[in-house]
Amino acid sequence: MKEEIWIEKYRPFKLDDVVGQSESIERLKSYVKTGNLPHLLFSGPPGVGKTATAVSIARELYGEGWRENFTELNASDERGIDVVRTKIKSFAKTSPLGDADFKIIFLDEADALTSDAQAALRRTMERYTNNCRFILSCNYSSKIIEPIQSRCAVYRFRPLSDAAVEQRCRYVAEKEGLQIADDGFEAIKYVAQGDMRKAINALQAASMFETTVHRDNIYKITATAHPEDILEILKTALEGKFMPARKKLDVLMTQQGLSGEDVVGQIYRAAFDLDILPKQMVDLMDVIGEIDFRLTEGADERIQLDALLAHFALSGEE
Ligand SMILES: Nc1ncnc2c1ncn2[C@@H]1O[C@H](COP(=O)(O)OP(=O)(O)OP(=O)(O)O)[C@@H](O)[C@H]1O
Ligand SMILES: [Mg+2]
Repeated sequence: MKEEIWIEKYRPFKLDDVVGQSESIERLKSYVKTGNLPHLLFSGPPGVGKTATAVSIARELYGEGWRENFTELNASDERGIDVVRTKIKSFAKTSPLGDADFKIIFLDEADALTSDAQAALRRTMERYTNNCRFILSCNYSSKIIEPIQSRCAVYRFRPLSDAAVEQRCRYVAEKEGLQIADDGFEAIKYVAQGDMRKAINALQAASMFETTVHRDNIYKITATAHPEDILEILKTALEGKFMPARKKLDVLMTQQGLSGEDVVGQIYRAAFDLDILPKQMVDLMDVIGEIDFRLTEGADERIQLDALLAHFALSGEE
């Protein structure tokens, strides 16, 4: 039998299962209590509970038959105006079933809708407010046109705290009869960076190799370098040993299959653990930002990483 994917298996059922977003959740609970809902806009990074929260609201409002009055559309599959005119409109038009006062349309990745489609959506939202409420979800609320934002109660979902990630992973591990070593937790929190989907996926992947999850597997599975190795490379570079630092980085990248952008992200995080002067830190951050930008623009990874290490080496000599 194919094993179920844990992020689905442990998808929150009720608002209380959503961890680490207590401020938003408390306010949302009061809507459920009154049985009424404004249009909602959830914004925030991936894997922090936006979809899970929307589904939990529907379950709590409608109970068993929640699916009848809840529809989920992914705007990035069908980002055009047609989907607004056809699918969304036809669902919005029809009356809610059972004794529900309104239906819910959950529009995932709403920031992928073109601005024309958003304009059409705005009219649909107005027209069918009696029948239906929209919950829009996006990573960047700045990509949602102002008239839509002003029609919604906006909820900002934050990256989850390490404590919230740990809490949920403990719960999942317990249910699965899996042990997590302390260093395993450290690694999960490091790779997840507040993204619960990443954390649970890493945990499930590691569980296939060992019954007690240790950090080595977490790092290997997620193609992440050990943070100490990155720190070591930076220290070597700061001592002015450019070639040895470069060599170490080369080995690491080949062994772990790291991408340039991943490495810069890790260097950024490791830099805060360096014992250097504030002025030096500021200069290095400036360079890290520049190199990160160049990589996203498509510059050569090898050259950019060498340039970054060169800056560290020069900085150490000053
Ligand atoms: N706050 C949370 N509490 C408990 N589980 C969570 C939480 N956030 C995410 N998860 C877990 O991660 C999975 C993915 O979360 P969800 O689909 O809600 O993310 P999202 O914020 O909608 O991300 P995206 O922007 O990628 O759509 C859920 O099924 C659940 O297992
Ligand atoms: Mg989602």
